[in-house]
Amino acid sequence: MVQFTLPKNSTIKTGKTWPKPAGAKNVRKFVIYRWNPDDGKNPQLDTYFIDMDSCGPMILDALIKIKDEIDPTLTFRRSCREGICGSCAMNINGINKLACIWGIDEQKGDIKIYPLPHMPVVKDLVPDLTHFYAQHASVMPWLETKTPAPEKEWLQTPEDRALLDGLYECVLCASCSTSCPAYWWNGDRYLGPAALLHAYRWMIDSRDEATGERLDDVEDPYKLYRCHVIMNCTQTCPKGLNPGKAIAEIRLMAQARLH
Ligand code: SF4
Ligand code: FES
Repeated sequence: MVQFTLPKNSTIKTGKTWPKPAGAKNVRKFVIYRWNPDDGKNPQLDTYFIDMDSCGPMILDALIKIKDEIDPTLTFRRSCREGICGSCAMNINGINKLACIWGIDEQKGDIKIYPLPHMPVVKDLVPDLTHFYAQHASVMPWLETKTPAPEKEWLQTPEDRALLDGLYECVLCASCSTSCPAYWWNGDRYLGPAALLHAYRWMIDSRDEATGERLDDVEDPYKLYRCHVIMNCTQTCPKGLNPGKAIAEIRLMAQARLH
């Protein structure tokens, strides 16, 4: 599995080491990125020891235990705890994953946790996703129609609906885009794998009537063609989706219009 780089601001010193739990026999060590951009100090790596006999099995369980029982200042996002909301994405031992569905047992040795790579940091493990969400909104992630609306719903055959499998399940966690070197260096103009997966999802929706406009909008040397088919996006997606293939399909659609 590909290992990704550290966040941009990463001359990171060792910070505080918290004591081991007394009497615990089954202890795991967590090394966690800590940074509050507002306090004027540099980022640091704090070390925590968790008694696994009183901790749930997932990385998020350990983070919640640290926050509840050891260090309430540790900051991270989470909501659903079952891989649906996409909010707990972070870099765990070098790989972008959802902490709530990534097992502690799947990691050997120390567990190092950083925020998603190459994003501005709000605090600790919380990246600023403002630009990422704006890029998602820019691909018009909704049904666009021109014909008058039907009396009831817009219908779709089961076969056409099945074409959306592997696309609609995206939880917008940003693991893919923040694993992509093209997005690291050109994220201001390259839409990145997540936004392009959503663009493709609406391009091929049989009910949508704006495919031409959608293609016009992404056909740009940066927005679409900055992808260099590195495929980190597909390797890392915690939902098992294939944004790299979606990008390739958009390119094929764009080429087909030329012939
Ligand atoms: S495609 Fe996968 S990795 Fe990318 S945002 Fe969606 S769920 Fe996350
Ligand atoms: S808490 Fe919702 S995906 Fe992890």
